[in-house]
Amino acid sequence: MAAPFTVLIMAAGQGTRMLSDTPKVLHRVAGKSLVEWVADAARAAGADRVVAVVRPGDGVAEGLPDGIEVAEQREGEGTGAAVLAARDTVESGPIVVLSGDHPLITPEQLEGLLAEHEDQGARATLLTTDQLDPAGYGRIVRDGSGHVDRIVETKYTDGVSPEELAVDEINLGTYVFDAKTLYDALDQVEIVKGERYLTGVFPILREAGGTIAAHMTDDADAALGVNDRAGLMEAEEAAQRRIIEGHAKAGVTFLQPGTIRVEAGVTIGRDSTIAPGTVLEGSTVIGERCEIGPHTTARGATIRDGATVIHSFVVEAEVGADATVGPFAYLRPGTVIGERVKLGTFVEVKNSDIGAGAKVPHLSYIGDADVGEDSNLGASTITANYDGRKKHRTKLGKSVKTGIHTSLVAPLDVGDRAYTGAGSTINEDIPDGALGIERGKQKNVEGYADRVEEDSQK
Ligand code: UD1
Ligand code: CA
Repeated sequence: MAAPFTVLIMAAGQGTRMLSDTPKVLHRVAGKSLVEWVADAARAAGADRVVAVVRPGDGVAEGLPDGIEVAEQREGEGTGAAVLAARDTVESGPIVVLSGDHPLITPEQLEGLLAEHEDQGARATLLTTDQLDPAGYGRIVRDGSGHVDRIVETKYTDGVSPEELAVDEINLGTYVFDAKTLYDALDQVEIVKGERYLTGVFPILREAGGTIAAHMTDDADAALGVNDRAGLMEAEEAAQRRIIEGHAKAGVTFLQPGTIRVEAGVTIGRDSTIAPGTVLEGSTVIGERCEIGPHTTARGATIRDGATVIHSFVVEAEVGADATVGPFAYLRPGTVIGERVKLGTFVEVKNSDIGAGAKVPHLSYIGDADVGEDSNLGASTITANYDGRKKHRTKLGKSVKTGIHTSLVAPLDVGDRAYTGAGSTINEDIPDGALGIERGKQKNVEGYADRVEEDSQK
């Protein structure tokens, strides 16, 4: 067990390079904000406390996971000012400082950093890599003994020497310090171009006789920082590789994973197959032995064991075990599809319960309805659930059979084993076992074709 430590997440930067009205750390990677990723990694690494530095009123505090404390950066600019904002919140003890714009930092990297810090008996230890394009990052200049001498910032390259620019080891904005020592050193850091740089503390700590250690990581995905939209795209790609690999290791097959997007909050059971073009979002839960896709989007959906969902869109709806959905079905919020249901082509279902074993095979709209077990709705069965002001429910019993082109005008109650005639507009309840039929009488006009031909010859 490591000694107790606090994590401080710097999340109050302006993020000007994003060109956005949204604070940078609230931009999302795989459905989760940058700062949430960092907070989750801090927790997973075993931090006692996690404190995020935010700007008053920037909305970042509201987007944080439960249990994360907040310190407000009310004055000053720059990463040094961010840390000083936590002075009254985290008074002493070991402090791990993280950047809210490095979303894919791993608990393993934090553990490695803390271990190196202890092994080296260092005054401060920072995480570095030589696996990324170093442009814009702070470069690590080491001394003769291999410790860190200083960090040269390259966001602006004027005044940076060619030797320093040639350094490809970069600072990842991830550090361990003793809190008190850090604040004292920061007080002495000069403000340059209106900013107090956190990286300015290293020469001060060295002069006071401390060594600065560097812990290098070669996990480029986990090291990645986001400063602009290009960085956001890279982080998304890296997150996808990580998420999909994680599911694959747990027994899920992905066909052409490069075409599939899975957000961080999704769970997938073993022996499920995810086919090309599929997008799984939010807190979607996929059971075992499911076949999802090609080209299915599921958002906050629950899809139970053995279900198949092809070329369909499922939003906040539930698909029962061994059900088959699609191609081209649209399941909207509040829909619950029972076990073994078959929902076919061009079928839209909203806020409805479809009982076990029922079939809605073609071209239907079912809204605000309860469909009993083993019912079979003919092609183009439509619920008229809206009278222009209010929604009403349609209730179909068990083993109901509707003829094609049945309109069901709600509120409506159709009994068990009832039938409807093809083309009927049903607006009165049908008792158990009865046939409801509503249809004009057919009239045949004899010799009609001959008359049309004669007319056209005139
Ligand atoms: C910083 C480092 C640089 C490192 C890079 C890694 C400094 C001076 N430089 O540069 O060495 O290579 O990170 O990504 O620290 N923030 C605040 N308040 C502020 C300013 C920033 O909380 O006033 C937060 C930001 O939200 C961000 C983090 O601090 O999460 C880093 O700030 P950023 O401006 O992106 O620093 P870089 O220029 O990338
Ligand atoms: Ca940055």
